[in-house]
Amino acid sequence: MQFFIDTANFDEIRKANEMGVISGVTTNPSLIAREGIPFEKAIEEIAGIVDGPISGEVKATTTDAKGMIAEGREIAAIHKNMVVKIPMTAEGLKACKQLTAEGIKTNVTLIFTANQALLAARAGATYVSPFLGRLDDISFRGVDLIEEIVEMFRVADIQTKVIAASVRSPIHVTDCAIAGADIATVPYNVIVKMIDHPLTDEGIEKFKADYKKAFEE
Ligand code: E4P
Repeated sequence: MQFFIDTANFDEIRKANEMGVISGVTTNPSLIAREGIPFEKAIEEIAGIVDGPISGEVKATTTDAKGMIAEGREIAAIHKNMVVKIPMTAEGLKACKQLTAEGIKTNVTLIFTANQALLAARAGATYVSPFLGRLDDISFRGVDLIEEIVEMFRVADIQTKVIAASVRSPIHVTDCAIAGADIATVPYNVIVKMIDHPLTDEGIEKFKADYKKAFEE
């Protein structure tokens, strides 16, 4: 399983990229709005940091296929690594089909059922983004959805990649990897939590103390 980082914050993207663990970036309208930087400027800056797929979403206020297609073309023109993120609606599927036909990569987002993922794949989506955290929030096991989609795509030999999204904790990451997600898009704070372990810190301190005692005292 690969990692994308799920943020529009440049510092976080830079830090994760320097660690060498991420191969792409996902943004959404809420994440872009949080940074307060105009969409195109933000995307250009991100594309200058990470050399990998960068998902940029059509405007939340654009709900018709025609509008999404026009915006999708503009997003794709920003940088060669752009992936157009489209919401899982009937109009979104139409836009996905057209943009795919034009050779533009797409990420169908806000997926909450395996059937939605199947429809998106049949409309030609490059990626689907099932949101496990938001399902957990309403007492459905989000990881079950990841498992179902991965299995469904395997049985039908579908090449669309599964991005586990709405990842909130390190255990989500482990669960998604075991479930067979191709990618998990993870917020920076979860990457940091994945690194930390008290026994690692304790081990470093012990090595330091033993080294100092033997060679520096
Ligand atoms: C996915 O692409 C979304 O940007 C994201 O994972 C949503 O996460 P949230 O449910 O924590 O907002």
